Order: sequence, then C-alpha cells, then structure tokens
Amino acid sequence: MVAALARPLPEGPVLDLACGPSGSALLAAATGRRVTAVDVSDAALSLLAEEASRRGMTGLVSLVHADLAAWRPQPGSYAVVLCTGYWDRDLFPAAADAVTAGGVLGWEAFTAGARLMRPDLPEAWVLGTGEPASLLPPGFETLSQQELPDARAGAKRRLMARRGPGDPRSGSRPQLSVALRGFSSR
Ligand SMILES: C[S@@+](CC[C@H](N)C(=O)[O-])C[C@H]1O[C@@H](n2cnc3c(N)ncnc32)[C@H](O)[C@@H]1O
Repeated sequence: MVAALARPLPEGPVLDLACGPSGSALLAAATGRRVTAVDVSDAALSLLAEEASRRGMTGLVSLVHADLAAWRPQPGSYAVVLCTGYWDRDLFPAAADAVTAGGVLGWEAFTAGARLMRPDLPEAWVLGTGEPASLLPPGFETLSQQELPDARAGAKRRLMARRGPGDPRSGSRPQLSVALRGFSSR
C-alpha cells in the first residue's frame, strides 16, 4: 500500500479487498483518501472499525461485509485497488476493471511454492506461474512483479500494475446502485 500510494495517482478512493483488520486501509485513509474495505469476517471489520474510530477516520472508511466470491466492485471507480493475502482468480478481472484510468492495482498472494511448506493450502488459493500479471486485461502496464520468498509463512508474489491514463475501457460507468453500508462495531 505504501508503495502504491507513493506513486503519482489520479483523484479517487481506494479499495482494499479482503482487508482483514487492515493496516492498508488505515494507511490509505491517513493520506486523506476515502477507502472502501471489504471482508467476509465480522471480527476483522469490527477491529478495523474500532481502529478507524480511534484514529478519527470513521468518515473516510466504508466497511463492506461481503463474500468476495460474489461481491464485485463498481468498474472504473478507484485510484488504487489493493488485495493482499487473498487470491481468487475469478475476482481478479473485476478488481482490475475497478481501477480508474491512471490508477494502480496492487496484489499479493501465495505462490505454488508455498504449498511445499503448507501442503494444506488449497491449489485455488495460490497463484499460477506468471500470475497475476499474466491475467491483466489490455490497457494495463506491469510496474513490478516481485517474488517474496518466506521459508516460514510460504512464498508470495507481489504485483503492481497501472491502468493506462487513456484506457478507453476505464471510464467510470453510471452508478446503478451503490450498496455500501456503514459497518458499526458494537
Ligand atoms: C490473510 S488475511 C489478509 C488480510 C489483509 N489483506 C492483510 O494483508 O493483512 C485474509 C483475509 O481474507 C478474508 N477473506 C477470506 N475469504 C474471503 C471471502 N470469500 N470474501 C471476503 N473476504 C475473505 C479473511 O476474512 C481475511 O481477513
């Protein structure tokens, strides 16, 4: 997130997919950007809500309690789309399409190498060879794709890609329905 936010970026909010309790969403909010943070876990969202409140950022962080197997972002809507510690090949094209022109997509997930030390890791949860850069739709430029060896937790790969400023497919489309609901911790 730090690397993505350090780049020249267009105006617009940040989307953090499978956010967890999320340092990333809070880092983005600290720059003054609005952040939409999505996770299926009540517990993770509660922790994030509490921390956002403690830092006076409640107004900047919209929490979405949703299953990313089904939830999809609005196309062309986010200056940064980030997903770390989660991989879903079916979600990736919609996540890329949610990046606005000139915006950045960041993704970090386990590689097949991680299954050597974590054989219980389902195959669907790990990146294939060359992924996720190989799955980028036309109009994206790969800024970096980096191997992150980790002998204890399992190897990961990190992608940073930019959507071309003139990508004709990236125009924000009409908002049909934005079903973001404020998430309040008890
Ligand atoms: C390893 S954590 C990563 C959290 C955070 N992105 C980070 O890097 O610290 C994976 C997160 O994915 C969430 N998750 C798992 N399956 C999900 C799904 N189907 N839909 C939404 N979130 C999901 C979990 O609740 C968890 O918070």
